[in-house]
Amino acid sequence: MLRASLGLLLLWALAAQGNDNLRVAYEWREMDFKYASPDQRWSAIERGEFKPANVIPFGLEVAGHRLFVTLPRWRAGVPASLGYLDLNDTSSKMPALKPFPSWQAHSQLETEPELVSPFRVKADRCGRLWVLDSRISGVLDKTRIYGAPQLLVYDLHNDDLLRRHVLPADQVKQASLFANLAVEDSDCENSFAYAADLGNPGLVVYSWKDQESWRVQHHFFHPDPLAGNFSINGIDFQWDDGLYGLTLSKPLESGYSTLYFHPLCSTMEFTVDTGILRNKTLATSPEIYREFKVLGSRGSNTQAGAEFLDPDTGVLFYTLPNLNEVACWRTATDFTHNSQSRIYMSNEYLVFPSDVKVDDQKRLWVLSNQLPVFIYDELYAGSINFRILTASVKEAIENTACEIRTSPLPDIINKFGDILNTNINLKTTSGASLLGVSSLVGLSLLMSLRI
Ligand SMILES: *[C@@H]1O[C@H](CO)[C@@H](O)[C@H](O)[C@H]1NC(C)=O
Ligand SMILES: *[C@@H]1O[C@H](CO)[C@@H](O)[C@H](O)[C@H]1NC(C)=O
Ligand SMILES: *[C@@H]1O[C@H](CO)[C@@H](O)[C@H](O)[C@H]1NC(C)=O
Repeated sequence: MLRASLGLLLLWALAAQGNDNLRVAYEWREMDFKYASPDQRWSAIERGEFKPANVIPFGLEVAGHRLFVTLPRWRAGVPASLGYLDLNDTSSKMPALKPFPSWQAHSQLETEPELVSPFRVKADRCGRLWVLDSRISGVLDKTRIYGAPQLLVYDLHNDDLLRRHVLPADQVKQASLFANLAVEDSDCENSFAYAADLGNPGLVVYSWKDQESWRVQHHFFHPDPLAGNFSINGIDFQWDDGLYGLTLSKPLESGYSTLYFHPLCSTMEFTVDTGILRNKTLATSPEIYREFKVLGSRGSNTQAGAEFLDPDTGVLFYTLPNLNEVACWRTATDFTHNSQSRIYMSNEYLVFPSDVKVDDQKRLWVLSNQLPVFIYDELYAGSINFRILTASVKEAIENTACEIRTSPLPDIINKFGDILNTNINLKTTSGASLLGVSSLVGLSLLMSLRI
């Protein structure tokens, strides 16, 4: 018995070691922008166009040598709501951002600015950047609605605006807020964008080819009234956000993909085949109710934010704001507690993981921004508030349930496994929360592979 517990502890440590493999690539006390001159920066601050304390990064995307960051206009004083840093410039860990596509596009002096307040952007494999602009500014102070939300598509070769699609009035409802986006880009000429409405739960599908969109309704887009309780680093609050995280699988044999999705205030994960969504007649008819599938629950306290499916490994990465954690699930396996693992958790470096992406260089990127402090308290400009963490996908999933193991395990682990068999069976069936289970998940995987 004593030997067995000792062995368990050892193995536990071994399994846990592989987690928390991310490193901080960029960090900021306050966000800053690359103005043409220091004078222009100072006059922007004097005029109140730039209030550093009011600028918070929210979404990220990597394309080529650029890392894009969205900076929604929650409060006044955000001079540009989309910017980027150059990954090739390694001179600073706290780089100032260049506005994208230009300063002009963000000018609040225009009656109809090109860009108002995007939450997420997505680069596709066709060299385009899709920007989902809520077109609402000042939700935390003086709210101003510039018009219906819009989808902007830029050519990343020259940053030209290729397409602007303003959502038709009947696809925007009372309290609508579009904050998340997925792009189905297997065919560059016949691409589809999926925009999630968290405020009035719904999904808008946009066809690049037909240049039109339609709105899909489903009960699974709604928040769970029992999952609205958040407690993050001492700040307790209740949210009731609907459809939020969404991401796509690689194309299946049918040519369509699986759309994975979840409301923010929910611990459930769902799927639907894009063959249903892409057919306007079908997608807007009530007959498709049963085409939406329930994958399962992640367990208590596991409300998930952004999610991203790495097409290469089939691993779904998702953020867990209530736990200051990023976790993973390998989509080739059943959706159970044991098939999900912690990737990284930190009450210091990952307070409110806001976005997660994998780029085409097989690198995982995570952005954390302390959003609850920004909304309900005040960020302290003397300490690091925002971070972008990274690792190769391979490093990130090492020793987790999401690792794709090919080589046999070393003998020493097999021996421990023999001693531990009973213990482990007991442990793995009892875990209720993902946090508690995450180290054990590694264990059970070691065990199952041994057989
Ligand atoms: C960025 O760096 C990579 C490799 O370090 C290089 O291949 C590429 O040409 C650089 N790109 C730019 C735009 O400087
Ligand atoms: C909500 O969270 C608070 C703080 O963690 C906790 O004390 C409370 O019991 C929770 N309420 C519900 C209904 O889960
Ligand atoms: C869309 O779905 C409808 C209803 O099932 C079907 O009649 C129609 O052929 C479909 N259209 C396409 C283009 O597949």
